[in-house]
Amino acid sequence: MTAPSHPAAPRVLELHGSTFARLRALLLERAGISLGDAKRPLVVGRLSRRVRELGLSSFDAYYERVIGDASGAELVRLLDMIATNETSFFREPAQFEFLQHRLVPSWREDAEAGLRGRHVRVWSAGCSTGQEPVSLAMALLDALPADDGWRVEIVATDLSTRALAQAASATWPIERARQIPPHLLKRFMLRGTGPQTGSMRAGPEVRAAITYERLNLVEDPYPAGAPFDLVLCRNVLIYFTPEGRRAVVERLLRHLAPGGHFLLGHAESLDLRTHRARSVAPNVYRRETR
Ligand SMILES: C[S@@+](CC[C@H](N)C(=O)[O-])C[C@H]1O[C@@H](n2cnc3c(N)ncnc32)[C@H](O)[C@@H]1O
Repeated sequence: MTAPSHPAAPRVLELHGSTFARLRALLLERAGISLGDAKRPLVVGRLSRRVRELGLSSFDAYYERVIGDASGAELVRLLDMIATNETSFFREPAQFEFLQHRLVPSWREDAEAGLRGRHVRVWSAGCSTGQEPVSLAMALLDALPADDGWRVEIVATDLSTRALAQAASATWPIERARQIPPHLLKRFMLRGTGPQTGSMRAGPEVRAAITYERLNLVEDPYPAGAPFDLVLCRNVLIYFTPEGRRAVVERLLRHLAPGGHFLLGHAESLDLRTHRARSVAPNVYRRETR
């Protein structure tokens, strides 16, 4: 009698120090992402399947494939696999409170005094799978009604094409509904039926307010058009080197209207000696008017 045969477990690929160093340099140069030594197992975990899928036998061969691909498609894929896309609706609720109780009232007052128009432009830079721009859209469309002449425009960008495809579908598992304040959920989200049971989809008003675009904050030109009233770059720059972070923040601030606001994630802060901005609430900054 022979022992029952099991499918052979895939051979574990080894990531040599020199290849890891080359991959790290590439990620740093092309996306600002700085991976420490401790991230070596993460790289092995996230890339092994792709290496095998391509019929390659080593990470070294994979690296050569990425840099030899003139279309850049494999690099996009690599960045997709490495970037952490974790996000949620109304993440960092204190910032949404700030938006509702401080920012929106000041925009309304300024509009009434003729100091600004009723068009609000927001940029969610590093929007991942869409929960951040959709939360902004729901909060702002609710607080600044179109019937009063307001127009809310949200530009949402990310490096990851995979995350953006999910964002553009505007569809999430229904369990995420509990992250959304009930009155906004009721007004702006549609519950899936039939084959869509178990999911929810953002309604037409929210979808129309948001434009998604792939944008690498390190390499690409930033959005054209009028400066933004509010820019969010939350939990994106955590893997950047201090110099990389400074350069991106400087560029982002230049796309803010004077007096416009800038939001970072809870574990991030701005070096106020370097940037012309001041802190107005935790992780909320206001660009100087000069
Ligand atoms: C952890 S998620 C944060 C999502 C959202 N801002 C939030 O706070 O919930 C970080 C996002 O930054 C994106 N990202 C990382 N490096 C980037 C770069 N160089 N340019 C644009 N986006 C980048 C990733 O693809 C990922 O979707």
